[in-house]
Formats: sequence, structure tokens, C-alpha cells
Amino acid sequence: MVRPVEQSPQGARLGAVAGSQSGVSVAQHSSRITIPELVSRKGGEPIAILTAYTAPVARLVDPHVDMILVGDTLGMVIYGMASTLPVTLDMMIAHGRAVVGASRHAAVVVDLPFGSYQASPAQAFASAVRVMAETGCDAVKLEGGTEMAETVAFLVARGIPVMGHVGLVPQSVHALGGYKARGRDPKEAKRIVANAVAIAAAGAFAIVIEATIDPVSREITAAVPVPTIGIGASAACDGQVLVIDDVLGLAGDFKPKLARRYVDLGSQIAEAARAYAADVKSHRFPGPENVYGVPKTGA
Ligand code: KIV
Repeated sequence: MVRPVEQSPQGARLGAVAGSQSGVSVAQHSSRITIPELVSRKGGEPIAILTAYTAPVARLVDPHVDMILVGDTLGMVIYGMASTLPVTLDMMIAHGRAVVGASRHAAVVVDLPFGSYQASPAQAFASAVRVMAETGCDAVKLEGGTEMAETVAFLVARGIPVMGHVGLVPQSVHALGGYKARGRDPKEAKRIVANAVAIAAAGAFAIVIEATIDPVSREITAAVPVPTIGIGASAACDGQVLVIDDVLGLAGDFKPKLARRYVDLGSQIAEAARAYAADVKSHRFPGPENVYGVPKTGA
């Protein structure tokens, strides 16, 4: 079957401008939303972000959102893993490359997976360099607070834009004891605010706040000079992010409080599969239009 050919990351991001006056071809950046543009949206028009992990979905969401996040949630929603912990750098790079290649409008941010950055700033730098160079993405995201500030500063000083992630940090699910909302305990609330402030001071260009009670998310949004991106956080955040499978109704009966289901694709896919199988079994598929070498009726 003929399918549209993916552009390489470089192809999607750089358009060759031939025949300049000097006769030298130069490369020109695409019209993708830039990281400084996103930073300038602090307190302004809310930033809309969706996750995407594959080329076809990236192509569909790209014109509508400001950023596509290639989140390590792909371990759970694409691969059916029990948590994000088994996700590898190679998996993130493969999916990041597909998403960058299929998009041209939204900024693309790729998660650094568990174990690829926590050991040291040097380890984080090596992982981030692979992600940036091999996918063509605009920035990386990592989880953590004050303990990651030195690493964030190290990457930012070397030209790698970093998005932080505080509150419920899924890569620490075992330490946290589950996926419950954070910040109800005043001591923990204080710690989450301090984490966000430290990551912003270290140079993060934006901070995801996940599953953190509204007053704490508001306090962070007021305290940091960069956009906050909420997921189960607060309407006061400077932007919102959702996992695409939750938006599309592909997560079965799992309906997290923090998400809104805009379409029930799960039911539609199941119905399509049922109708197809029934057609095959009753010889209604393939029809004459689906096979080769059969004269059209009436011809
Ligand atoms: O991995 C992911 O998709 C994320 C979002 C839930 C923010 O980090």
C-alpha cells in the first residue's frame, strides 16, 4: 500500500533555499513555534500541549497545539507497561524522531526516561545530546526538584532547553507510593513550591505541574517567571497538557479525573474491527473495488 513518506527530522525542520545571490545554498529554519516564543506566553494566551508518540497522531495534532510532548507515558499507553520506569532512551529517540518528522508547527519536547539523567549532570548531558541530535526535537523534559537543579543548569548552560516536571513525578512512583494527587500535606506543598522555584532558577523554560492541588499550583504559577503547564493542577497555570490517549478515549474504562475525553475512539475502533471481521466472514469484503484485475461492472 502506498503511504505518505516521512520527512527526516532535518527535512522537516530545514528547508533548503537554493539560488541565493551568492549562489550558495543556505538552510532556513521552519516556522515551528520556538522555545522563546513559549516563554513569552507567561501570563498570556494559554499554551496548549498534547502528547503524541507516533507519526500519524503527530501529523493530526500538530496544527492545533503549541507543543507536542513525546512523554515517557508512551511506555504505559503504547507498550502497556505498568509504569514509565522500563522506558529506554532508545524508545524515546525512536518515537521522538517519528513525531518530529511528522510535524512542522508545534515545538516538540521529548522526555528523558528514568535512569538516563539522574546519576549526574554529565549523564544527563550525554542523554540529552542523543535525544536532541537524533530526533531533531526542540527541548527535553526531566522530572525532579531541587536535587535536579544543578543538572538543569548544566544542560541549559550548554544550549539544551529543559522543561521541568514537579508535583506527582511518575518516575518516582515507588518512592511516592502511588499516583495520588500531591501537596495536600502543608510540608509537602512547601517542598513542591520550592522544587519548582529551584528548577526555574536553574533555567528551565517551563515547568509541568502534575496532579498537585489547585492552591499549590497557583502559588507556583505566581512564584516562577516561566510558564507553568498543568495536568491535574490548576486552571491558573499558563498552559495545559493532556495525554492523547485520554483525550481520544483510547484508555478503555480508565478515566482519570485530570483528563477530559473529547471523543470515544476506543468504541469506534472496536466497532470498525467488528464490522470488518463480519464482512470478511460473510464474503462482503473484499468487494470488486478492492481487488486487482477484475473488470468494472458495466465495462
Ligand atoms: O510522560 C508524559 O506524558 C508526561 C505528561 C503526563 C506531562 O510527562
